[in-house]
Amino acid sequence: MSDRIQKATPLSFDALASIFDDQRSLPTEAQSALYHVFADAASDGPLRIVEPGAGTGRIAILALAAGHHVSAIDVSRPMLDAFSARLESLPNLASRATLLVRDATALPLDDDNFDIGILAQVLYLIPDWARALDELFRVVRPGGEVMLAQERSTMSPALRERDAAWRMAVESVGYRHMPQQPDDAEAVAALEQRSKRTAEQVVATWSFGQTCADADAGPQRLRPLYETLDDEKWKVAVERFGQWQRAHPVDAETWLGGSVELMLVRGTVPEGQR
Ligand SMILES: C[S@@+](CC[C@H](N)C(=O)[O-])C[C@H]1O[C@@H](n2cnc3c(N)ncnc32)[C@H](O)[C@@H]1O
Repeated sequence: MSDRIQKATPLSFDALASIFDDQRSLPTEAQSALYHVFADAASDGPLRIVEPGAGTGRIAILALAAGHHVSAIDVSRPMLDAFSARLESLPNLASRATLLVRDATALPLDDDNFDIGILAQVLYLIPDWARALDELFRVVRPGGEVMLAQERSTMSPALRERDAAWRMAVESVGYRHMPQQPDDAEAVAALEQRSKRTAEQVVATWSFGQTCADADAGPQRLRPLYETLDDEKWKVAVERFGQWQRAHPVDAETWLGGSVELMLVRGTVPEGQR
Protein backbone atom coordinates (compact mmCIF):
# COMPACT_ATOMS: atom_id res chain seq x y z
CA MET A 1 0.00 0.00 0.00
CA SER A 2 1.49 3.42 -0.87
CA ASP A 3 2.07 5.95 1.95
CA ARG A 4 -0.49 8.30 0.43
CA ILE A 5 -3.23 5.65 0.48
CA GLN A 6 -2.13 4.39 3.92
CA LYS A 7 -2.67 7.89 5.31
CA ALA A 8 -6.11 8.28 3.73
CA THR A 9 -7.39 4.83 4.73
CA PRO A 10 -5.88 1.95 6.71
CA LEU A 11 -7.71 -0.53 4.44
CA SER A 12 -6.90 -0.22 0.75
CA PHE A 13 -9.64 -1.36 -1.63
CA ASP A 14 -7.20 -1.70 -4.54
CA ALA A 15 -7.14 -5.51 -4.32
CA LEU A 16 -10.91 -5.67 -3.76
CA ALA A 17 -11.96 -3.79 -6.88
CA SER A 18 -12.38 -6.96 -8.95
CA ILE A 19 -14.61 -8.70 -6.39
CA PHE A 20 -16.50 -5.79 -4.78
CA ASP A 21 -19.52 -5.86 -7.09
CA ASP A 22 -19.83 -9.66 -6.80
CA GLN A 23 -19.78 -9.57 -3.03
CA ARG A 24 -21.52 -6.29 -2.23
CA SER A 25 -23.98 -5.53 -5.02
CA LEU A 26 -27.33 -4.30 -3.74
CA PRO A 27 -30.40 -6.48 -4.40
CA THR A 28 -32.56 -5.27 -7.28
CA GLU A 29 -35.33 -4.00 -4.95
CA ALA A 30 -32.84 -1.91 -2.96
CA GLN A 31 -31.39 -0.47 -6.17
CA SER A 32 -34.86 0.37 -7.37
CA ALA A 33 -35.82 2.03 -4.05
CA LEU A 34 -32.65 4.11 -4.04
CA TYR A 35 -33.13 5.04 -7.70
CA HIS A 36 -36.60 6.37 -6.78
CA VAL A 37 -35.14 8.48 -3.96
CA PHE A 38 -32.83 10.10 -6.53
CA ALA A 39 -35.57 10.35 -9.16
CA ASP A 40 -37.89 12.12 -6.66
CA ALA A 41 -35.10 14.61 -5.97
CA ALA A 42 -34.91 15.37 -9.70
CA SER A 43 -38.34 17.05 -9.92
CA ASP A 44 -36.68 20.49 -10.26
CA GLY A 45 -34.22 19.23 -12.87
CA PRO A 46 -30.88 17.47 -12.66
CA LEU A 47 -28.88 18.08 -9.49
CA ARG A 48 -25.13 18.21 -8.85
CA ILE A 49 -24.23 15.30 -6.57
CA VAL A 50 -20.87 14.44 -5.01
CA GLU A 51 -19.97 11.07 -3.52
CA PRO A 52 -16.62 10.77 -1.70
CA GLY A 53 -15.64 7.08 -1.45
CA ALA A 54 -17.82 6.24 -4.45
CA GLY A 55 -15.96 2.99 -5.16
CA THR A 56 -17.23 1.03 -8.14
CA GLY A 57 -20.30 3.28 -8.42
CA ARG A 58 -22.85 1.01 -6.72
CA ILE A 59 -24.76 4.08 -5.44
CA ALA A 60 -23.54 6.77 -7.86
CA ILE A 61 -24.78 4.88 -10.93
CA LEU A 62 -28.33 5.01 -9.55
CA ALA A 63 -28.06 8.80 -9.15
CA LEU A 64 -26.72 9.07 -12.70
CA ALA A 65 -29.57 6.87 -13.98
CA ALA A 66 -32.03 9.29 -12.32
CA GLY A 67 -30.60 12.08 -14.50
CA HIS A 68 -28.20 13.83 -12.11
CA HIS A 69 -24.58 14.96 -12.52
CA VAL A 70 -22.27 13.02 -10.22
CA SER A 71 -18.72 13.72 -9.09
CA ALA A 72 -17.33 10.44 -7.75
CA ILE A 73 -14.23 10.73 -5.59
CA ASP A 74 -12.20 7.78 -4.33
CA VAL A 75 -8.72 7.22 -3.00
CA SER A 76 -8.49 3.87 -4.84
CA ARG A 77 -7.78 4.08 -8.56
CA PRO A 78 -8.70 0.41 -9.18
CA MET A 79 -12.15 0.99 -7.61
CA LEU A 80 -12.74 4.00 -9.87
CA ASP A 81 -11.39 2.04 -12.86
CA ALA A 82 -14.06 -0.59 -12.19
CA PHE A 83 -16.65 2.23 -12.03
CA SER A 84 -15.32 3.62 -15.31
CA ALA A 85 -15.54 0.18 -16.94
CA ARG A 86 -19.22 -0.03 -15.94
CA LEU A 87 -19.86 3.37 -17.51
CA GLU A 88 -18.37 2.27 -20.85
CA SER A 89 -21.62 0.54 -21.77
CA LEU A 90 -23.71 3.46 -20.44
CA PRO A 91 -22.63 6.51 -22.51
CA ASN A 92 -25.67 8.62 -21.46
CA LEU A 93 -24.70 8.24 -17.83
CA ALA A 94 -20.97 8.57 -18.48
CA SER A 95 -21.46 12.03 -19.97
CA ARG A 96 -22.75 13.26 -16.57
CA ALA A 97 -20.08 11.56 -14.44
CA THR A 98 -16.75 12.96 -13.22
CA LEU A 99 -14.39 10.47 -11.54
CA LEU A 100 -11.48 11.75 -9.42
CA VAL A 101 -8.82 9.83 -7.49
CA ARG A 102 -8.60 11.94 -4.32
CA ASP A 103 -8.89 11.78 -0.55
CA ALA A 104 -12.27 12.60 1.01
CA THR A 105 -10.57 14.74 3.66
CA ALA A 106 -9.16 17.15 1.04
CA LEU A 107 -11.73 17.46 -1.73
CA PRO A 108 -10.36 19.32 -4.77
CA LEU A 109 -13.71 21.10 -5.13
CA ASP A 110 -15.04 24.64 -4.62
CA ASP A 111 -17.28 25.64 -1.70
CA ASP A 112 -21.08 25.38 -2.15
CA ASN A 113 -20.70 23.57 -5.46
CA PHE A 114 -23.19 20.69 -5.04
CA ASP A 115 -26.86 20.16 -4.20
CA ILE A 116 -26.35 16.77 -2.55
CA GLY A 117 -23.39 15.00 -0.94
CA ILE A 118 -23.50 11.27 -0.19
CA LEU A 119 -21.37 9.06 2.04
CA ALA A 120 -22.06 5.32 1.80
CA GLN A 121 -20.15 2.78 3.88
CA VAL A 122 -17.02 4.90 3.95
CA LEU A 123 -16.67 7.08 7.07
CA TYR A 124 -15.36 4.21 9.23
CA LEU A 125 -12.54 3.71 6.74
CA ILE A 126 -11.22 7.23 7.18
CA PRO A 127 -9.07 7.95 10.25
CA ASP A 128 -9.98 11.66 10.18
CA TRP A 129 -13.65 10.98 9.40
CA ALA A 130 -14.91 14.19 11.06
CA ARG A 131 -12.80 16.16 8.60
CA ALA A 132 -14.28 14.19 5.68
CA LEU A 133 -17.76 15.14 6.92
CA ASP A 134 -16.70 18.80 7.29
CA GLU A 135 -15.31 18.72 3.75
CA LEU A 136 -18.62 17.45 2.43
CA PHE A 137 -20.53 20.18 4.25
CA ARG A 138 -18.10 22.68 2.73
CA VAL A 139 -18.76 21.65 -0.88
CA VAL A 140 -22.57 21.24 -0.59
CA ARG A 141 -24.47 24.54 -0.83
CA PRO A 142 -26.56 25.90 2.08
CA GLY A 143 -30.03 24.39 1.79
CA GLY A 144 -28.56 21.32 0.06
CA GLU A 145 -28.42 17.88 1.64
CA VAL A 146 -25.74 15.60 3.02
CA MET A 147 -26.88 11.96 3.06
CA LEU A 148 -25.49 8.97 4.91
CA ALA A 149 -26.42 5.63 3.33
CA GLN A 150 -25.94 3.00 6.02
CA GLU A 151 -26.33 -0.77 5.64
CA ARG A 152 -27.34 -1.90 9.13
CA SER A 153 -27.05 -5.65 9.30
CA THR A 154 -28.05 -8.30 11.82
CA MET A 155 -26.56 -11.80 11.80
CA SER A 156 -28.30 -15.03 12.84
CA PRO A 157 -26.75 -16.73 15.91
CA ALA A 158 -25.10 -19.43 13.74
CA LEU A 159 -23.47 -16.85 11.49
CA ARG A 160 -22.44 -14.67 14.43
CA GLU A 161 -20.69 -17.60 16.08
CA ARG A 162 -18.91 -18.61 12.88
CA ASP A 163 -17.94 -15.01 12.14
CA ALA A 164 -16.43 -14.62 15.62
CA ALA A 165 -14.41 -17.84 15.16
CA TRP A 166 -13.13 -16.71 11.77
CA ARG A 167 -12.14 -13.29 13.14
CA MET A 168 -10.29 -14.97 15.98
CA ALA A 169 -8.44 -17.27 13.55
CA VAL A 170 -7.17 -14.42 11.35
CA GLU A 171 -6.34 -12.26 14.36
CA SER A 172 -4.33 -15.16 15.87
CA VAL A 173 -1.86 -14.80 12.97
CA GLY A 174 -1.58 -11.04 13.29
CA TYR A 175 -4.48 -9.61 11.27
CA ARG A 176 -6.00 -6.54 12.92
CA HIS A 177 -9.65 -5.81 12.18
CA MET A 178 -10.44 -2.14 11.88
CA PRO A 179 -12.52 -0.68 14.67
CA GLN A 180 -15.91 0.40 13.34
CA GLN A 181 -15.40 4.04 14.14
CA PRO A 182 -17.56 5.97 13.77
CA ASP A 183 -20.32 3.39 14.19
CA ASP A 184 -23.70 4.16 12.60
CA ALA A 185 -25.03 6.03 15.65
CA GLU A 186 -21.89 8.18 15.98
CA ALA A 187 -22.04 9.06 12.28
CA VAL A 188 -25.69 10.09 12.60
CA ALA A 189 -24.89 12.22 15.68
CA ALA A 190 -22.08 13.94 13.76
CA LEU A 191 -24.45 14.63 10.86
CA GLU A 192 -27.06 16.06 13.25
CA GLN A 193 -24.46 18.32 14.83
CA ARG A 194 -23.68 19.91 11.47
CA SER A 195 -27.22 20.05 10.00
CA LYS A 196 -30.15 22.41 10.17
CA ARG A 197 -32.54 19.47 10.34
CA THR A 198 -32.33 15.75 9.70
CA ALA A 199 -34.61 12.97 8.49
CA GLU A 200 -34.14 9.22 8.52
CA GLN A 201 -35.81 6.63 6.30
CA VAL A 202 -35.53 2.88 5.71
CA VAL A 203 -35.02 2.64 1.96
CA ALA A 204 -35.02 -1.15 1.71
CA THR A 205 -34.60 -4.33 3.73
CA TRP A 206 -33.40 -7.71 2.56
CA SER A 207 -32.11 -11.06 3.77
CA PHE A 208 -28.80 -12.62 2.89
CA GLY A 209 -27.15 -15.94 3.54
CA GLN A 210 -25.96 -19.28 2.34
CA THR A 211 -25.81 -22.84 3.62
CA CYS A 212 -22.87 -23.93 5.70
CA ALA A 213 -21.79 -26.23 2.84
CA ASP A 214 -21.67 -23.31 0.41
CA ALA A 215 -19.74 -21.17 2.89
CA ASP A 216 -17.24 -24.00 3.43
CA ALA A 217 -16.69 -24.30 -0.31
CA GLY A 218 -14.74 -21.09 -0.53
CA PRO A 219 -12.57 -19.52 2.17
CA GLN A 220 -10.24 -18.72 -0.77
CA ARG A 221 -12.90 -16.27 -1.95
CA LEU A 222 -12.07 -14.15 1.12
CA ARG A 223 -8.33 -14.12 0.40
CA PRO A 224 -8.22 -10.61 -1.26
CA LEU A 225 -9.65 -9.12 1.95
CA TYR A 226 -6.53 -10.21 3.84
CA GLU A 227 -3.76 -8.98 1.60
CA THR A 228 -1.71 -7.93 4.67
CA LEU A 229 -1.34 -11.63 5.64
CA ASP A 230 1.31 -13.58 3.73
CA ASP A 231 0.43 -17.03 2.32
CA GLU A 232 1.95 -18.89 5.28
CA LYS A 233 -0.12 -16.93 7.83
CA TRP A 234 -3.23 -17.27 5.70
CA LYS A 235 -2.74 -21.06 5.63
CA VAL A 236 -2.37 -21.19 9.43
CA ALA A 237 -5.52 -19.04 9.89
CA VAL A 238 -7.53 -21.36 7.61
CA GLU A 239 -6.22 -24.41 9.52
CA ARG A 240 -7.14 -22.88 12.89
CA PHE A 241 -10.60 -22.06 11.65
CA GLY A 242 -10.88 -25.67 10.44
CA GLN A 243 -10.00 -26.88 13.96
CA TRP A 244 -12.79 -24.71 15.39
CA GLN A 245 -15.22 -26.15 12.85
CA ARG A 246 -14.29 -29.71 13.74
CA ALA A 247 -14.87 -28.88 17.42
CA HIS A 248 -18.26 -27.28 16.62
CA PRO A 249 -19.83 -29.50 13.95
CA VAL A 250 -23.02 -28.22 12.30
CA ASP A 251 -25.27 -29.68 9.64
CA ALA A 252 -24.16 -28.80 6.09
CA GLU A 253 -27.62 -27.34 5.41
CA THR A 254 -27.49 -24.95 8.39
CA TRP A 255 -28.39 -21.49 7.13
CA LEU A 256 -25.81 -18.81 7.82
CA GLY A 257 -27.64 -15.60 7.21
CA GLY A 258 -29.07 -12.36 8.42
CA SER A 259 -30.84 -9.23 7.30
CA VAL A 260 -29.89 -5.76 6.21
CA GLU A 261 -31.72 -2.44 6.52
CA LEU A 262 -30.56 0.21 4.08
CA MET A 263 -31.03 3.50 5.91
CA LEU A 264 -30.78 6.93 4.42
CA VAL A 265 -30.11 9.68 6.94
CA ARG A 266 -30.40 13.16 5.43
CA GLY A 267 -29.18 16.44 6.89
CA THR A 268 -29.86 19.91 5.48
CA VAL A 269 -26.82 22.17 5.20
CA PRO A 270 -27.44 25.36 7.25
CA GLU A 271 -27.05 28.88 5.85
CA GLY A 272 -24.04 30.99 6.77
CA GLN A 273 -21.93 28.32 8.44
CA ARG A 274 -18.65 29.81 7.15
C1 LIG B 1 -17.01 -0.06 1.22
S1 LIG B 1 -16.54 0.89 -0.20
C2 LIG B 1 -18.08 1.74 -0.53
C3 LIG B 1 -18.15 2.27 -1.94
C4 LIG B 1 -19.46 3.00 -2.27
N1 LIG B 1 -19.69 4.15 -1.43
C5 LIG B 1 -20.61 2.03 -2.15
O1 LIG B 1 -21.41 2.15 -1.20
O2 LIG B 1 -20.69 1.13 -2.99
C6 LIG B 1 -15.55 2.18 0.50
C7 LIG B 1 -14.81 3.04 -0.54
O3 LIG B 1 -14.26 4.18 0.14
C8 LIG B 1 -12.97 4.43 -0.39
N2 LIG B 1 -12.20 5.23 0.58
C9 LIG B 1 -11.67 4.84 1.76
N3 LIG B 1 -11.03 5.86 2.35
C10 LIG B 1 -11.17 6.94 1.53
C11 LIG B 1 -10.71 8.28 1.60
N4 LIG B 1 -10.00 8.74 2.62
N5 LIG B 1 -11.03 9.11 0.57
C12 LIG B 1 -11.76 8.66 -0.48
N6 LIG B 1 -12.19 7.40 -0.60
C13 LIG B 1 -11.91 6.54 0.40
C14 LIG B 1 -12.41 3.05 -0.66
O4 LIG B 1 -11.32 3.10 -1.57
C15 LIG B 1 -13.63 2.33 -1.21
O5 LIG B 1 -13.73 2.45 -2.60
